[in-house]
Amino acid sequence: MKKVLITGGAGFIGSHVVRLFLSNHPDYEIYNLDKLTYAGNLENLKDVEGNPNYKFIKGDITDAAFINTLFDENKFGVVIHLAAESHVDRSISNPLEFVTTNVIGTVNLLNAAKKIWDCNKDKPVRQDRIFYHVSTDEVYGSLGETGFFTEQTSYDPQSPYSASKASSDHFVRAYFNTYNLPVVISNCSNNYGANQFPEKLIPLFIHNIRNNKPLPVYGDGKYTRDWLWVVDHARAIDLIMHKGELGETYNIGGFNEWQNIELIKLMCSIMDKKLARKPGESEKLITYIKDRPGHDRRYAIDAAKLNKNLGWKPSVTFEEGLEKTIDWYLANEEWLKHLTSGEYQKYYEQQYAAR
Ligand code: NAD
Ligand code: DAU
Repeated sequence: MKKVLITGGAGFIGSHVVRLFLSNHPDYEIYNLDKLTYAGNLENLKDVEGNPNYKFIKGDITDAAFINTLFDENKFGVVIHLAAESHVDRSISNPLEFVTTNVIGTVNLLNAAKKIWDCNKDKPVRQDRIFYHVSTDEVYGSLGETGFFTEQTSYDPQSPYSASKASSDHFVRAYFNTYNLPVVISNCSNNYGANQFPEKLIPLFIHNIRNNKPLPVYGDGKYTRDWLWVVDHARAIDLIMHKGELGETYNIGGFNEWQNIELIKLMCSIMDKKLARKPGESEKLITYIKDRPGHDRRYAIDAAKLNKNLGWKPSVTFEEGLEKTIDWYLANEEWLKHLTSGEYQKYYEQQYAAR
């Protein structure tokens, strides 16, 4: 039985990783460690909470004593680290929280893994353990009109969020180089899909279109992102964890670039049909507003290494993934209502604390 610790498993991507691992690896014990910040939602994992191979632990990765005890007691064989503050706009108003969680939290986990796996430079890198750090393409900074981020692109983070993620990536590599800790890193592009907190572009705009609220487009709207369906990110993590080379970095992306305004118009036209509105009706909600400070102009990932070395490619087209996503939000109004009312934050007390 492999003991796998997934941090941030109650968040958007983490919840998809937990579900995929439980389904693909019935011989693994999955531990989900999450502080349940505003972004953590155990309602995301209602469908797996009765699974005997799944255990939820409420805890904070910035608490070094707690993390050390947890690792000593459980002797995890694998750590998949997703817990983080993840929203760029929040990092602009509160950078220190991002340093604390994303940098110090990561170093606490690295220290605990190093200790229980007994890693140091005098011993070969263990092949039977793995610390998998989930990171972002934002560490590479911003692209001009052409070109792609490859694994060789120099780091050039522009926002407090990306600076904190870049720093955490550097620490993970430093632990490989200095202590022979078995690590792997992946840097992924923008994810979309079910269960994403509606502060991010796609779920926020679905919600606003549905409720006839303004669609706040930052700046000129010509910023470009490379979108990937969250389940395809989770599939890539599963593959890299099992087949990736220790000490390596893998870029993950959908070869799927969209200017924000084009994506927003596409969403409006799909929603017009789904909500039986006249063509063009939802587009009237588009409202240009003040730009995000330090807004990165363009991200585009070259995922050729992952494709060539490990055979990964996205399983859905963007049109399929976006339609599935819109359908999910339209069918799960209750999930969104619980976020707005704060009900979701009571779920742990109601379902877990008494156990
Ligand atoms: P999210 O904000 O939805 O979830 C983050 C989770 O981490 C939440 O459940 C939260 O409660 C938990 N958490 C936060 N602070 C914690 C702490 N101190 N201790 C324990 N748990 C804590 O984030 P997401 O979008 O699912 O992103 C997950 C990871 O993937 C992050 O590391 C992010 O940088 C990375 N990433 C995200 C994207 C994206 O498009 N969303 C793309 C590439 C990489
Ligand atoms: O690239 C990967 C990153 O993608 C992840 O590491 C981050 O965790 C994740 O939040 C995401 O960052 P972005 O800043 O790209 O995502 P966001 O959804 O906030 O914004 C996407 C684009 O849409 C960006 O150009 C800003 C713009 N935008 C966003 C919002 C929320 C708007 O124009 N209006 C909005 O209201």
